[in-house]
Amino acid sequence: MSNERLFPQRGSDRESVRERLLEFKGRDISEALGRLNVYCHKGSEELDQLRRDAYGIFAHSNAFLAGYMDGMGTMQAEVLQMALEILNGPVESCAFITTGGTESIFCAMHTAREWAKVERPVPGRPQVMLPYSGHVAFDKACQFLEMDIVRIPVRDDYRADVAAMEAAITPNTIAIVGSAPNWPYGTIDPIADIAAVAQRHHLWMHVDACVGGFINPWLERLGYDIPLFDFRVPGVMSMSADLHKHGYASKPCSTVLYRSRAVEPYHFVEVDDWPDGPYKTAGFVGSRPAASVATAWSVMKYLGESGYVALTRECMEVRQKLVEGIENIEDLKCLQNDSTMIYFRSETLDMPTLIGGMVEKGYFPFGVFNPMMLQLIPEPVPDEMIDTYLAALKEVASGVREGTVTSTALARYA
Ligand SMILES: Cc1ncc(COP(=O)(O)O)c(C=O)c1O
Repeated sequence: MSNERLFPQRGSDRESVRERLLEFKGRDISEALGRLNVYCHKGSEELDQLRRDAYGIFAHSNAFLAGYMDGMGTMQAEVLQMALEILNGPVESCAFITTGGTESIFCAMHTAREWAKVERPVPGRPQVMLPYSGHVAFDKACQFLEMDIVRIPVRDDYRADVAAMEAAITPNTIAIVGSAPNWPYGTIDPIADIAAVAQRHHLWMHVDACVGGFINPWLERLGYDIPLFDFRVPGVMSMSADLHKHGYASKPCSTVLYRSRAVEPYHFVEVDDWPDGPYKTAGFVGSRPAASVATAWSVMKYLGESGYVALTRECMEVRQKLVEGIENIEDLKCLQNDSTMIYFRSETLDMPTLIGGMVEKGYFPFGVFNPMMLQLIPEPVPDEMIDTYLAALKEVASGVREGTVTSTALARYA
């Protein structure tokens, strides 16, 4: 804590508060392609405006109360119904809003653990098996839930090695996970094969579609080869799908979805023995913003399927230009994957120096450590922005080759 007192004795006028906020925002890395190239999911200026309006209308509303508020409750129920429709939930499926992929995964793992106590009792500490590429949210969830994580190395094509996963099942395994796609490589695991393993061994099967849930269906419509990943696959018991990623909602907003309402008793934590009587919430958190749910509802209604497909087409066009541009730069190569995301690396240039060079040019080069790669999430942006990014990358790559770029300052997770 600093010695300097910040909390003012007297308040200031609205304008100066606003000015200071704008100044804070101005100091951040611009949420534009390549500068801060991940976790933006802006979509377009039009969507940005739509979100701001929706957020404003519900800015002060607490979705904790959705069960008691007719309007907010209906809006939330409609978002969940649309999410289940998009992900091919059967009639008996159900879903809940959470604050993000991490909470959705936490809820699914909690439900799996409670389900296993009844449906698949294990002799020791429960284990959750996932490919090496699975999101770290599973580790967090399992740590809180006192379960062990078993990560199985992925195949050379960065997809889950299903045979190795099956071979690693122990009497304590309760759940198995696949990603569609995973975050580090953008590849979709063989979900149908993993689900078949789950059915053979009576395991809970979770699909992490935090990134893909609201974009894979549109890639499929556009003719991309997207393997089945949702409730159409028998054996998939739960999914996580983030509205605040390719659903283009404001953060925090995600969904955890279950094939059957019958597992609801395992999902909920119900408490009665405290002064305020019966208490249960949709996910782990208590209060949560209705405003982000309102943005999800607005974007879903405003875009509809055709709007999402059009936006996805634009993302893929930007992706194509970037991939071509990157591969035209000597020594750089993109990784094949199943998403809109781009991963690229060099086998000849020193990657930490390439990354350091991009940091020096004011970019925030998000990426992967194993193997070391840079990651981009294409959004519809003007051609000039693509050209500027590619020009910077080309210059840095030549600098590394010629030894004029030497900094190895890495941008890391905060
Ligand atoms: C595949 C995947 N799962 C889960 C998460 C966690 O989501 P959140 O950051 O919304 O908690 C992410 C985040 O990027 C992700 O990519």
